Amino acid sequence: MNNVLSVSGLTKNFGKLCAVNNLSLEIGAGHVFGMLGPNGSGKTTTLGMLMGVINPTRGSFSWFGEPPGHEVRKKIGAVLEHPIFYPYLSGQRNLELNATIKECSKENISRVLDIVELTTRKDDPYKTYSLGMKQRLAIASALLNDPTVLILDEPTNGLDPMGIAEIRELIKKIAAGGKTIILASHLLDEVQKVCTHFAVLRKGNLIYTGPVDVVGSGSETVEVGADIIELHEILKAFPGTNSISRENGFYRVTLRESFHGRDINRYLFENGITVDHLVTRKKTLEQMFLEILSTKN
Ligand SMILES: Nc1ncnc2c1ncn2[C@@H]1O[C@H](COP(=O)(O)OP(=O)(O)OP(=O)(O)O)[C@@H](O)[C@H]1O
Ligand SMILES: [Mg+2]
Repeated sequence: MNNVLSVSGLTKNFGKLCAVNNLSLEIGAGHVFGMLGPNGSGKTTTLGMLMGVINPTRGSFSWFGEPPGHEVRKKIGAVLEHPIFYPYLSGQRNLELNATIKECSKENISRVLDIVELTTRKDDPYKTYSLGMKQRLAIASALLNDPTVLILDEPTNGLDPMGIAEIRELIKKIAAGGKTIILASHLLDEVQKVCTHFAVLRKGNLIYTGPVDVVGSGSETVEVGADIIELHEILKAFPGTNSISRENGFYRVTLRESFHGRDINRYLFENGITVDHLVTRKKTLEQMFLEILSTKN
């Protein structure tokens, strides 16, 4: 497997507080990896260690199979918490300064402005930018040296729904260009919409890691409504039924693994029943996250 990042036993103690505890995980090339966890669960501390701005107490990690170092870090772009730009300088000018600091060519500036869709506003002072534009400029700056990996800490924090949607599209666009992206978030639907893989941290402990596409592939729940007295009995007799509850005037049937909404639809049809209502509800990441958090004590 082509791993971009391998983390082994990474630990950070702040005095008595263990912010990150014995974290091990792998991130593959091209993945969009979401780190989920409540406030204070260790996401920023983990990203800080991976970026070399926080010293680990114990453990190790390697980027592209190499130990962390100056050369390796050039392949990583990051937006950690509050990026600093000069308020009275334009977006363009700020990027020029950053390009000088990062020792990369100024030729890249128009390309990254294009990616984050700030080309038309590039000559306006930074202080006139909206929060979403400021965030996009920070991402542009992280992309200046064309990194292989992009790290984002809470990229949509404080943005309105429109700004959130723009950042989400931007992340997808960058990922489609082949970059590996690691992002910390506590927005579950954001992770579900943009990530290919995710991990869940709680109090510094990794309690789950896996692909996002398993979310919703677990057992399905189907809501069924039909004007038939025997409906409950008929649903109970369906071989794919695991359990049935009554909710909002409908029967809520949790199916056994490998049964789907269409199976129950066919079964009802074969039994001469026409339904008024049949809706399949897949497990959302939110349900899965809450389950993970509540079961792994
Ligand atoms: N420099 C520090 N000194 C002492 N404790 C710290 C320091 N930085 C972080 N912590 C503690 O480490 C724990 C993890 O913090 P961290 O910022 O990594 O969490 P987080 O998951 O990023 O949270 P959030 O969702 O609020 O951003 C918290 O209990 C925090 O108070
Ligand atoms: Mg944080």
